[in-house]
Amino acid sequence: MARRTLPATASVAHPLEADKLYAPAADRNADALVSLLMDAAPGSGTALELASGTGQHIVAFARAMPQLTWQPTEVAQDRLSSISAYASGAELANLKAPHMLNATQPGWGEARSVDLIVLINLLHLIRTDEARTVITEATHALKPKGCFVLYGPFMRDGALTSEGDSRFHASLTASGPMIGYKDVGIVTGWMRAEGLTVKIHEMPANNLAISGRVGSS
Ligand SMILES: C[S@@+](CC[C@H](N)C(=O)[O-])C[C@H]1O[C@@H](n2cnc3c(N)ncnc32)[C@H](O)[C@@H]1O
Repeated sequence: MARRTLPATASVAHPLEADKLYAPAADRNADALVSLLMDAAPGSGTALELASGTGQHIVAFARAMPQLTWQPTEVAQDRLSSISAYASGAELANLKAPHMLNATQPGWGEARSVDLIVLINLLHLIRTDEARTVITEATHALKPKGCFVLYGPFMRDGALTSEGDSRFHASLTASGPMIGYKDVGIVTGWMRAEGLTVKIHEMPANNLAISGRVGSS
């Protein structure tokens, strides 16, 4: 994939030890995300994480939800190495080795084989058309009754709702006019158009989570 230059604040992760990277934001939101996912998670099956980042989250998810087999994925090689390092340190039987997956590539989601898909903090970093592709492909990858959980910063009714969000969005749109915060109404509209039953969840730090279930709830 052509890599675009995003501001340094878009995806902060520092070297920790060996291949492990450490993202302070992933530490801060992990507990809230675990609680959210424990409510959405099915009683068994497979969970796919898109854009897994450092791997900090998926280790916490796999530990908290041992009834699911967790598959991390990423597009960046340094993040794939970091995920492998966290996964091997965690020694969790339900956590698989990471796969390379470009979530914006049309066609990856044809398998209809996954019970839960998790996507944290990616939509604001990609173009609008790419975000639409992610929603379509993730929905195609879900089994009947499967659930897609998205988390991140969003616009509400076309508006940015804090000074920090306005600054961050402006720094992102400087990388490309279609990069930056997506509107929650537009994203939920895409999810509904794919046949998902959608719920919005208020999250800490002015973020939102959106869960979408295949079929009626
Ligand atoms: C802000 S970080 C979020 C990482 C992790 N989900 C978290 O919240 O800690 C965004 C991540 O998306 C990954 N990424 C960017 N474009 C992607 C794509 N097209 N497909 C999959 N991952 C992508 C980056 O490599 C980066 O690790």
